[in-house]
Amino acid sequence: MKKILIINGPNLNLLGSREKNFYGDTTLKKIESLCDQHCKKIEIECMFFQSNHEGEIIEKIHSADKDFDGIIINPAAFTHTSIAILDALRATSKPKIEIHISNIYSREDYRRKSITSEAVNGVICGFGENGYVLAIDAIKNIIYS
Ligand code: DQA
Repeated sequence: MKKILIINGPNLNLLGSREKNFYGDTTLKKIESLCDQHCKKIEIECMFFQSNHEGEIIEKIHSADKDFDGIIINPAAFTHTSIAILDALRATSKPKIEIHISNIYSREDYRRKSITSEAVNGVICGFGENGYVLAIDAIKNIIYS
């Protein structure tokens, strides 16, 4: 079975209590179980990783090249700052999708630029937790195309 890795970056462990006006009531646990259910339905295996540390995210991306068939990543605030995560994503040959819960283009100016998106096949943003489900379908299509 094809295997994907779903990475969530800093502060996403606080979903459910953090800035509900942007991120809603959902928790990371709920998002992971939503993804799990959807992956089972479409016969894909998924694994989750969340970290508040840039280096840990980079090391996880490195490991993904041999262990996974694709990566879905919400780099959170690192989206707007991290050339190091961009480079790590560039170094993997597997399909990659960037996802954001909120619409980063309708928020502050500094969120409108995604540094990391240069290295991914596509970006999904603004659809809340359902964006993860859309990303899973999109990556499955890429993996099997
Ligand atoms: C986010 C958007 C980022 O700008 C922000 O720093 C986050 C979450 C999102 O999912 O909407 O932490 O990636």
